[in-house]
Amino acid sequence: MQQANLGMIGGGTVGSGLFHALQLNGGLMASRIGVKVAVRNIAVKAFDEPRPYPIPRLLMTTDWKEVVNDPGIHIISELVGGTTLAREIILCALKLGKPVITANKALLSAHGEQLFAAAKKYGTNLYYEASVCGGIPIIKSLREGFVGNRINALYGIVNGTCNYILTRMKLEGADFATVLADAQKQGYAETPPDLDIDGWDAQHKIGILASLAHGFWVSPKEIHVEGIRHISAMDIKFASELGYTIKLLGIVKQIDHIRFTIDASNEKPACKSSIENRKCRVQVSVYPTLIPNSHVLAGVNHVFNAVFVRGDIVGDTLFYGRGAGKDATASAVLSDLADAALDLKFGTKHRVPPFVPHECAGAVVPIEDVVSQYFVRLDVTDRPGVLAKIAAIFGLSKIGISSVIQPEGHEGKSVPLIFMLHYATNGAVTKALAGIGKLSVVKSKPVMIRVESFE
Ligand code: HSE
Repeated sequence: MQQANLGMIGGGTVGSGLFHALQLNGGLMASRIGVKVAVRNIAVKAFDEPRPYPIPRLLMTTDWKEVVNDPGIHIISELVGGTTLAREIILCALKLGKPVITANKALLSAHGEQLFAAAKKYGTNLYYEASVCGGIPIIKSLREGFVGNRINALYGIVNGTCNYILTRMKLEGADFATVLADAQKQGYAETPPDLDIDGWDAQHKIGILASLAHGFWVSPKEIHVEGIRHISAMDIKFASELGYTIKLLGIVKQIDHIRFTIDASNEKPACKSSIENRKCRVQVSVYPTLIPNSHVLAGVNHVFNAVFVRGDIVGDTLFYGRGAGKDATASAVLSDLADAALDLKFGTKHRVPPFVPHECAGAVVPIEDVVSQYFVRLDVTDRPGVLAKIAAIFGLSKIGISSVIQPEGHEGKSVPLIFMLHYATNGAVTKALAGIGKLSVVKSKPVMIRVESFE
C-alpha cells in the first residue's frame, strides 16, 4: 500500500484531535482509499501546551519550517489559526507544491482568493472542509455533490454560539445578557464573545460558501452583517406568538432567479439591480431572521449547525451536525486528507479542484436593494392617533402591513406595537423606520428583524 506522509502545523486542541482521529481510524481510511496516511512530524507552540489528546514527544518540534521543508513530507495541515503566521505557513507549503489542509475560516475569508490563486500557480491544492460548519461536509457537497446545480439559495445556521443563546432565550424566556453570561460560564461562548455574537464568525463562513457556490470570491466587506446583541426576550416572545423562531441566518440567494413583479399592491417590488443586470447577482448576508416554525431550520437547536441548500436541479436539501469541536473538525480534516492522499496516489491535482473561479460577472447585491419581509417592534405611547401616524409613514413609503399586534395597553403609558410588513426593499424600510423613530410617541429605536419565507 502507498503511504502519504503528513506534516502537521498545530498540535493544540484541533491538532491533537486530528492526531487522535488518525490513530483511531487511519487504518479504516487506508483500507477505503488504498493509501496510508502517516504523521511524520508535528510543529507545536510548546511541547507541554495543554491538549485533550497526548502527542508523543518524538513526533513534535517547535519549528514549523522544519516540517514544511521536509522533503519526506507530502501533505501539510495548518491548524494554528490566526491570519498572519498561518498565511505564511500555507504560502510556504504551496510554493513547495505541497497540498495544504486548513480549518482557518478567518484567513480564507480575508485572503482566500490569493491563496487559491497561489495553489493553482504552484500546481497544488488548498483544502478547507473544516473551515465551515465543522463536521458537516458542506464544502465537498457544494463542490462535488452539487457540481451540476446552480445554487439558487443557501441558508445556514453556521454559528453554534448564537444558536445556543437564541435557543435558550426561546426555551427559558430569558434575556440575552443573562443567557450570554451563563453560556460564557459553561464554555459555550468565548470571552470576549464579539466574534460570534456580532456575526463575524458567520460572515467568514457564509463568504466562503457564497464564493464556492457562485464561483467568484466574495470579500467580507461585501457581506451585510448584523449580530444578535439587540434581540430581546420580547422579540422572541412576539415572534413565537406569530408562529416564528428567531435564528441567526447566513443567506446566499441568487437574486436573478427570483421573479419579482412590479405591481400596484407592492407585494414584491422589483429589485432594481436584478433588472439592470441579470448576471449572477447574489444576496450574501448574515442577520437574525424570523423563520416559520414549520420550517426545518426552526428546529435546529442548541450548538448544532445546519445548512439548507436549494439547487436548481436537486431542489431542497438539508445538512445538519456539529459545527465546532475537536472531533467534528478532525472528521472534516480527514476527508480533505483522503482527497490529498488520493491525488498523490493517482498523480492528479484533484478531479474537482477545491475552488475554481468561474463567474467573472458575479456581484453581491447591496443590502439596500435586497427585498424581504419584516418584523418591526416599536415602543410607543398608547394614545389616539399613534397607530394611524405610523401606518401613514409605511403607506407613504409604499410598504404594506400584513399584520399588527398591540397587547392591551393603558392610555398615556408605553406599549409595544408589532408590525409584520409585506415585501419591500431594505432601503425603503430603513428609511421609513428612521422617520418613525423620530416621532415623539416612539420611545426607543425601532427594532427591525427580517422574515424569511423560503419561497
Ligand atoms: N465559534 C464558532 C461557533 C465555532 O460558535 O460556531 C468556530 O467557528
